[in-house]
Amino acid sequence: MARQVEIWNDRAEIASRALLLCQLAYKEAIAKNERFTIVATGGNSPRILYELLATKDWDWSKVHVFWGDERYVPITDPLSNEGMTRAIWLDRVAIPEVNIHAIPTNSDDPAIAAAQYEQHIQEFFGTAAGEFPEFDLFLLGMGDDGHTASLFPHTNALKVSDRLVTVGEKDGQHRITMTVPLINQAKEILFMIEGAAKAKALKAVLAPKGDINQYPSRLITGNTIWLCDRAAMNQKKS
Ligand code: 6PG
Repeated sequence: MARQVEIWNDRAEIASRALLLCQLAYKEAIAKNERFTIVATGGNSPRILYELLATKDWDWSKVHVFWGDERYVPITDPLSNEGMTRAIWLDRVAIPEVNIHAIPTNSDDPAIAAAQYEQHIQEFFGTAAGEFPEFDLFLLGMGDDGHTASLFPHTNALKVSDRLVTVGEKDGQHRITMTVPLINQAKEILFMIEGAAKAKALKAVLAPKGDINQYPSRLITGNTIWLCDRAAMNQKKS
């Protein structure tokens, strides 16, 4: 699978480039299938992009938004990825509520929530158990420790290859996360990576060889485009 690494000056440039790539993916998907499926990410990295997307005059009735991972908290919690995404993007556009495919977080057992989200995705795409549907565009960030989505170093979630969604874990807190094979199946995977704190992990993730348990982003081997700023690449601004 292809990997493209692009180096930009700062987060504003990354966001403009990401917006352009979103537009291209949207146009292509609409032309082909009359529908655009995009997977949102949490964290700070996508915030400017979401603000820019909120200004776009898209046919939002044809856009379907999913999340790659979620903290196991209600939507009203400031840590909720869904809450953040709605506040700065989805609440500002005319997207039908049925097109917003949020990760459920209301069951006592996160494993049940993971299974429910998996079933929802299968029903949406009309795929059978064991099949991995193809999202049009998958947005991702990467933590300073090399994690992506809620695929944290040395956790069981990294090994799950027969499910679409599983339970992740961070400091004893449950998370829900899409699995490695589901992410890798996407038509295009867009990483947004900013800041010097990520330089060490980024170098390890992009190196030809390395430890997938220590740096889980290495597991994302699909069609990836890495939008990195100079600080993350350990380079000076031009
Ligand atoms: C989340 C994410 C997570 C995030 C990275 C990077 O829910 O927080 O999905 O994987 O993308 O931790 O976060 P920043 O963009 O804040 O650096």
